[in-house]
Amino acid sequence: MTYQTLLFEVRDRVAFVTVNRPDKLNALNDQVMAELGDAAERIASHDAIGGAIVTGAGPKAFVAGADIADLAKQGPFDGKARSMRGQAVLRRLETCGKPVIAAVNGFALGGGCELAMACHIRIASEAAKFGQPEVKLGIAPGYGGTQRLPRLVGKGVALQLILTGEMIDAQEAYRIGLVNKVVPAAELLAASEQMLRGILSMGPLAVRLALEAVDQGLEMTLDEGLLLEANHFGLLAATQDTKEGLTAFLEKRSAKFQGR
Ligand code: COA
Repeated sequence: MTYQTLLFEVRDRVAFVTVNRPDKLNALNDQVMAELGDAAERIASHDAIGGAIVTGAGPKAFVAGADIADLAKQGPFDGKARSMRGQAVLRRLETCGKPVIAAVNGFALGGGCELAMACHIRIASEAAKFGQPEVKLGIAPGYGGTQRLPRLVGKGVALQLILTGEMIDAQEAYRIGLVNKVVPAAELLAASEQMLRGILSMGPLAVRLALEAVDQGLEMTLDEGLLLEANHFGLLAATQDTKEGLTAFLEKRSAKFQGR
């Protein structure tokens, strides 16, 4: 697929995905969502890609939400279908098996906040602003906001944000646990790349299974989650990477992981 609304560049195993509609503050129209779905599939399936950074074009916005012009035309059935398509795209990104960092460079509102939450880690520029303002438009979050926000920040704070539609700055987002780190705007991409490359230097099978255990485990009972973790722990013991990682430590050298 050739992208019209995304920039997609792979540099040394890192896919840089930039939502590129700066004149509309990178709002997620149907085309952006289709292209994001394709990009998520590429990240998941291409061996040359180890992880991804998702950001927005221009100085103002990460993504200012779903495209309100599209939403204005929808009826109940295509509204539900749009929500389910968007949810599936973000879920594919979340379950791509590789680490994905949102580099939040400006407004992350509505679908933008939801896109950031579907990434595994969020790094915000000091200029970033977050919110789920859907209720101001008479709609409710439709790309996972009602589910991922409470999982990230707890039910009370999530309900406050969703019901008031209030916008919060990067420091407040950090305080409530919505973002992992706040950095100056000029350092955002470098800081995101540095963190991602650090993760890519770890055992990739271990990273993949840790992502899966956290994702699946949150939906399980504690005992089921612990069993899943133990199964992963045992599975990893059969890999070359685990032998290499442990041996390298004992031999006081850096590990060279092969992903097998
Ligand atoms: N959908 C479609 N277009 C959007 C948009 C969205 N979610 N957010 C911004 N835009 C468009 C504006 O319509 C405007 O287009 P125009 O120049 O053709 O008129 C352009 O992006 C710039 O936005 P503007 O509102 O002029 O910028 P601002 O700096 O005054 O305000 C925001 C910035 C983010 C506060 C404001 O754009 C806003 O409230 N956006 C909607 C946020 C929202 O409700 N998101 C959830 C949607 S479910």
